[in-house]
Amino acid sequence: MNKKMTITSIQKAKNNTSLVMITAYDALFAKLLEESADIILVGDSLNMSFAGKTDTLSASLEQMIYHTNAVCEGAKNTFIVCDMPFGTYITKDEALKNSIRVFQETKADCIKIEGGEDKAHIVKHLVDNGIAVCGHIGLLPQSVRGEGGYKVKGKTQAEKDSLLCDAKAIEDAGAFCMVIEGVKADIAKEIAHSVSIPVIGIGAGKDVDGQVLVFSDMLGLFEAFTPKFVKKYMDGASLVKAALASYADEVTKKEFPKEEHTY
Ligand code: KIV
Repeated sequence: MNKKMTITSIQKAKNNTSLVMITAYDALFAKLLEESADIILVGDSLNMSFAGKTDTLSASLEQMIYHTNAVCEGAKNTFIVCDMPFGTYITKDEALKNSIRVFQETKADCIKIEGGEDKAHIVKHLVDNGIAVCGHIGLLPQSVRGEGGYKVKGKTQAEKDSLLCDAKAIEDAGAFCMVIEGVKADIAKEIAHSVSIPVIGIGAGKDVDGQVLVFSDMLGLFEAFTPKFVKKYMDGASLVKAALASYADEVTKKEFPKEEHTY
């Protein structure tokens, strides 16, 4: 079994090894992921792939705490990140109160918040009060309604400059690592080189310090849509449907249960 990572070993990984982050929302999958993931993210993406909603915005703190507890049970030997849901870190006091709840009610190792320069004062307040913070810059799923869609960032020089400022501000505020989502690969590379903390990409090309994917996307279980940056490592939906169809067929034909499944 690999040694559980810490914020120190995650920071030391920069320039040494590419970090593997995968999302999980329950103990069952967390246990399966534990063998491959350095870091498990209990992402608010669970509101879409687990709860069936069209975006992440209605995820609640209670939901995140519930799922983080399940993941911590399943993956006791893996560094766990709990995503702070939309609306729970608007002011620094609210952010601290809600992050303290996460730390007191779960075994999460850190929290993650979306935002750049505008959220740096919140990151600093959390870090100053003992909360380990993973930043999240670039395309921010919690801003989808505010921005009228999911928009890839870093296409213009102004956007590149602003992303660089965001990354610097989050690092200076004390975040120990950050996720960078949905940005052009050239600027993601520049950002990874310009900060000293690990930059973990999703839809940000290969020249960063690690990658994160949503487990239900990479296992081909989520069918609603597939973003360009997702690679499906298996066709989970087809495999599950085929297994369920076999079961239904055998039940219908009274071929299941057989002798060996009977008391
Ligand atoms: O909620 C989530 O799964 C995330 C990833 C997309 C990084 O924030």
